[in-house]
Amino acid sequence: MKNNRFFPTTDAVGLIPKHDRTAWLKGGEHRCAMPPRTPLHKAWRVILLGPPGVGKGTQAGLLCERLGCCHLSTGDVFRDAQCCSENEVSPAMRDALGHMRRGELVPDETVLDMVGERLRCLNCSGGFLLDGFPRTVAQAGALEKLLDGHDLKLTAVFNYELPVEKIVARISGRRTCAGCKAVYHLTAHPPKVADVCDHCGGKLFQREDDQPESVKVRMEAYQNSTRPLVEFYQQRGLLASIAAEGTPEEIYQRTRLAFLAR
Ligand code: AP5
Repeated sequence: MKNNRFFPTTDAVGLIPKHDRTAWLKGGEHRCAMPPRTPLHKAWRVILLGPPGVGKGTQAGLLCERLGCCHLSTGDVFRDAQCCSENEVSPAMRDALGHMRRGELVPDETVLDMVGERLRCLNCSGGFLLDGFPRTVAQAGALEKLLDGHDLKLTAVFNYELPVEKIVARISGRRTCAGCKAVYHLTAHPPKVADVCDHCGGKLFQREDDQPESVKVRMEAYQNSTRPLVEFYQQRGLLASIAAEGTPEEIYQRTRLAFLAR
């Protein structure tokens, strides 16, 4: 397949402020303060696949900065809800947070309701990069219907792969900013000041589901429920598989070449 697309080698798109993700993180009537960056005919609509901790969120940062689309992470929506007070959280969301803490997948119905409340983000003329959704064949089928219904086509699905022992090392050193959700690693990508976010000064924390017992459950959930999506998207001619070894920049360049070579 020939890809008539501009895929920049660096952040050639210039110094654009980080995308405002209010509409995605808050849902409902909330709107982003910043308008989308790219015209409709060039918008990227991408899915990131891969096991927990492989580096999807890190690549999402580079890809969104350079391709101009918005980072839509379902995990970030759930983590954002964790910071709300008890009476701000619906019973379905409270149940979802219990699943997340234990490392289990949140039930499809809850995830699809949550995405359904954010349809405007899938329709956004700036495009999107979905990280953590879809995660089951049922979710992928539902997404396909939603996109078909709005006459939207996926551009590509990037599937990241890494041996399990390297994944475990990445997960155990991860620290996340409570404020802007930036992701660090104690040795591979440490903050300038210990426990403090370089971008917003927020406090860094270790995710509850990064404890060894939850990581084991997450890996099993990936193998049983999410891995079948590799074949699902391969059959649709959308898949580009990428080795997630090396630095984030090296992986970005490999992603670019894998996409252009399809
Ligand atoms: P989610 O937030 O989606 O988590 P995940 O898929 O488990 O992925 P992670 O965020 O753990 O890892 P990542 O691949 O983004 O890696 P990262 O870039 O951070 O989901 C969490 C939970 O929410 C699920 O378990 C489930 O309960 C629920 N959920 C969410 N969506 C759902 C859905 N659709 N259906 C059902 N349930 C759902 O990198 C990891 C670490 O490695 C970081 O420290 C980073 O700095 C470091 N690193 C990254 N790249 C490199 C590199 N190249 N070299 C060295 N270190 C690196």
